[in-house]
Amino acid sequence: MAKEPVRVLVTGAAGQIGYALVPMIARGVMLGPNQPVILHMLDIPPAAEALNGVKMELVDAAFPLLKGVVATTDVVEACTGVNLAIMVGGFPRKEGMERKDVMSKNVSIYKSQASALEKHAAANCKVLVVANPANTNALILKEFAPSIPERNITCLTRLDHNRALGQISERLNVQVSDVKNVIIWGNHSSTQYPDVSHATVKTHSGEKPVPELVADDGWLKGEFITIVQQRGAAIIKARKLSSALSAASSACDHIRDWVLGTPEGTWVSMGVYSDGSYNVPAGLIYSFPVTCRNGEWTIVQGLSIDEYSRKKLDLTAEELTEEKALAYSCLS
Ligand code: NAD
Ligand code: LMR
Repeated sequence: MAKEPVRVLVTGAAGQIGYALVPMIARGVMLGPNQPVILHMLDIPPAAEALNGVKMELVDAAFPLLKGVVATTDVVEACTGVNLAIMVGGFPRKEGMERKDVMSKNVSIYKSQASALEKHAAANCKVLVVANPANTNALILKEFAPSIPERNITCLTRLDHNRALGQISERLNVQVSDVKNVIIWGNHSSTQYPDVSHATVKTHSGEKPVPELVADDGWLKGEFITIVQQRGAAIIKARKLSSALSAASSACDHIRDWVLGTPEGTWVSMGVYSDGSYNVPAGLIYSFPVTCRNGEWTIVQGLSIDEYSRKKLDLTAEELTEEKALAYSCLS
């Protein structure tokens, strides 16, 4: 029997991530090759004409899985009945800007869109916030949509996770698909902690720990961490625009694994509501290693955290605590 279509909201759909993301969703990259979708695309009135152009292109591409397109500047129409909400809309960081500079512009957007989702989305709607500051926007959304379960509100750190996999794969000259279980802890910002203490590579003689294979602790604790932390800024410098195709692809990875499950023995990084695991303050949206099954994520427990890592986990938590205070000061 044919599956019911899933309604997927993409906010900021006329922007550059939106333009990369909607064809991926319509092609089944996010929810699989047998899952029909109806796309709900929201943008603001100045972008209405461009948004309509994206809709025209979606029709022209004749995607077999695409069963309908709602393109609108009305937030209620956009949110009505959606099962998944990918929140990309917002004000992007430009060259030379810190994420905090864009905070006040984004918290008011996330406050009002939280209310619309709470009132009009389908029950059990899952939310992924991409727009920066992603963790704090997600926290604001959670605060102002109290009836959406907190475990349904997440933010994107999968791009950082994928960047870490990419760097290890290049360094060791191995397939990226053979590298697994890196971790991004904390904020989607330059304080994030890309951690390979528990990461492995599949080799002919079984799985080997990344720290053993790289055998250069200086690189792992120096250049590797800095490259991943600063990759977003490096892309902006090179393109004069922030990352888009990698962000869109990682958003698909995030939702696919959340909905369809992570492979056995593999975890991924997701920004989720902290329950105090690993002594991270409860009440922050913080990136943890998670496994997913039956549409639910679970923080991987029991990983050893040495003194070096502890400091890094705490540093990024401190930044998130400050961002939270700053966000609240923007709201008052
Ligand atoms: P963009 O400027 O190209 O697109 C943003 C779109 O959002 C625009 O079309 C704009 O009109 C729209 N928009 C603005 N306010 C809106 C509102 N209130 N409701 C709906 N739409 C609205 O930006 P982009 O390059 O697509 O990036 C989008 C966001 O994603 C930025 O905040 C960027 O910093 C962030 N980002 C996050 C990650 C991550 O890994 N978490 C990676 C890359 C980019
Ligand atoms: C990224 O990581 O590419 C984005 O978050 C862009 C940015 O603002 O750094």
